[in-house]
Amino acid sequence: MKEIKSYELREKYLKFFESKGHKIIPSASLIPENDPSVLFTTAGMHPLVPYLLGQKHPQGKRLCDVQKCVRTGDIDEVGDATHCTFFEMLGNWSLGDYFRKESINFSFEFLTKVLEIPVEKIAVTVFAGDEDCARDEEAADTWAGLGIPRDRIFYLPKANNWWYAGATGPCGSDTEIFIDTGKPACSEHCDPSCDCGKWVEIWNNVFMEFNRNAEGKFEKLKQKNVDTGMGLERTICMLNGFKSVYETDLFTGAIAKISELAGKKYGEEEDSTRAMRIIADHIRTATFLLGDENGIVPSNVDQGYVLRRLIRRSVRFARQLGIEGGSLVEIAKLYVEQYKEVYPELGINSAKIFEELEKEIEKFSKTLEDGIKQLDKVIQYLKGDTVNGKTAFRLYDTYGFPIEMTMEICKEKGLSVDLEGYKLAQEEHIKKSQQGAEQKFKGGLADSSKMTTYLHTATHLLLACLKKVLHDDNIQQKGSNITPERLRFDFNFPRPLTEEEKQAVEDAVNDAIKRDIPVVCTEMTIEEARAKNAVGVFGSRYGEIVKVYQIGDVDLQICGGPHAEHTGQLGHFKIEKEQSSSAGIRRIRATLSDLV
Ligand code: SER
Repeated sequence: MKEIKSYELREKYLKFFESKGHKIIPSASLIPENDPSVLFTTAGMHPLVPYLLGQKHPQGKRLCDVQKCVRTGDIDEVGDATHCTFFEMLGNWSLGDYFRKESINFSFEFLTKVLEIPVEKIAVTVFAGDEDCARDEEAADTWAGLGIPRDRIFYLPKANNWWYAGATGPCGSDTEIFIDTGKPACSEHCDPSCDCGKWVEIWNNVFMEFNRNAEGKFEKLKQKNVDTGMGLERTICMLNGFKSVYETDLFTGAIAKISELAGKKYGEEEDSTRAMRIIADHIRTATFLLGDENGIVPSNVDQGYVLRRLIRRSVRFARQLGIEGGSLVEIAKLYVEQYKEVYPELGINSAKIFEELEKEIEKFSKTLEDGIKQLDKVIQYLKGDTVNGKTAFRLYDTYGFPIEMTMEICKEKGLSVDLEGYKLAQEEHIKKSQQGAEQKFKGGLADSSKMTTYLHTATHLLLACLKKVLHDDNIQQKGSNITPERLRFDFNFPRPLTEEEKQAVEDAVNDAIKRDIPVVCTEMTIEEARAKNAVGVFGSRYGEIVKVYQIGDVDLQICGGPHAEHTGQLGHFKIEKEQSSSAGIRRIRATLSDLV
């Protein structure tokens, strides 16, 4: 049988739903905009939430797309046959248009007529019913009417057949479609909810008619929606009868390269096959995150931390295979070539992808060696079978050795790590140093003492004065770190500041302090803030309503605060040092004295 490739499935899916009156919409970014509740776009419905809740979509009531998604909740499962941290989701939506019957009819027609999957291979699950929503006989009858035998229609509870976008938001019962891989059932009770490998879920049709409110209650939505999601990787795998997604054309290039670099055959030995799959998966996800239209870079917080973890994990598994970390960039290059036609942003951002990847790999390779040595020592002298939390934190703090890696290595050796103790040590550290980066801008500084609060206001004045004195409106904040002793502020500028310029900036800040301007905070929508030309720093963190701090005619910035009440409180501002931070980025350290 001829192999079915990924591009064919994308094309067939979109064409089919287009023929059923759906408009094709582009994939949204992997980094959700204006939604601080999730780190990544995890499903096709995610960018469509406002429309599922009732807003009018400019393209109409029937939509379809192929959405890039990242889910890292199952990261430990990656390496098996079906789990990936990045995947593409084929989806079609009815926004208050068709519902259960039509949706199931579309799915059945696409699977059996377009993809020519034999009906005998299909099994489905439907919602068993409870106090919130009736047993879904309509879905079951529709499937049965189409020829799915009753003994292949399984009724399952909320835990299996209910889809939530998050703790609150649009949700509803679903019907899930599975392919029978032909493996014998593991027991007489084996059904599609079993993970023995007999059944693989390829498509989920959610009947979104509820909104779960903050009290956890289900309220009927204004409109009945359908939200479906089909995993591209899994479906191609199933259509071709492959053993795993890594045999599909999406991965064959990367796996061949990894196997060549390792000098080992893929599929021959369990551990090295798993390592190859993990590298192929993680580097693909890293490539997409770095190359995204809202691309991120490795860091110690939020999305950046996930990215860092993926890259570092790849390096670790590469070492296990005898592959030098730096060669992983070769794999990213393959992915960019492979995907850039479908996702042009990868081609546009390719230089950044390779540079950042290389930088992170290099950084980590250096620390890895030290960290592993230290952990080996810890294990050698360990009494009992648990590494204590303080030690695990020291490995992270001193050697940059991620806790997940400590846990993984320990697990391989049959040891455990005191995670609670680790968290306590981490909290203790944050309290002590008051620099907990992850705390810094979560609606306020980790340390809200008078000094740090005023230094924060000083960074606003500093940014405004840099722009004014250097006559450059393109200057932006590229990083900020505040301790009770000083502020540290990074901004883009191509050259060192002259002595005169430094003095002029300092004077301008002190001038604004002397004018004792009130610092006024207003809440408004993100659109209003943009319309007022407010400076925005951390785009992806904003919610719909933002706080905007205005310092008279000097500065207007979206910011979580807190700030001084009036600039006169800041006393006297002094630039202590101006130096390079990285290419094109300057760094200023400054202090305040004589606080009022
Ligand atoms: N939102 C559902 C899912 O992710 C269907 O798209 O499975």
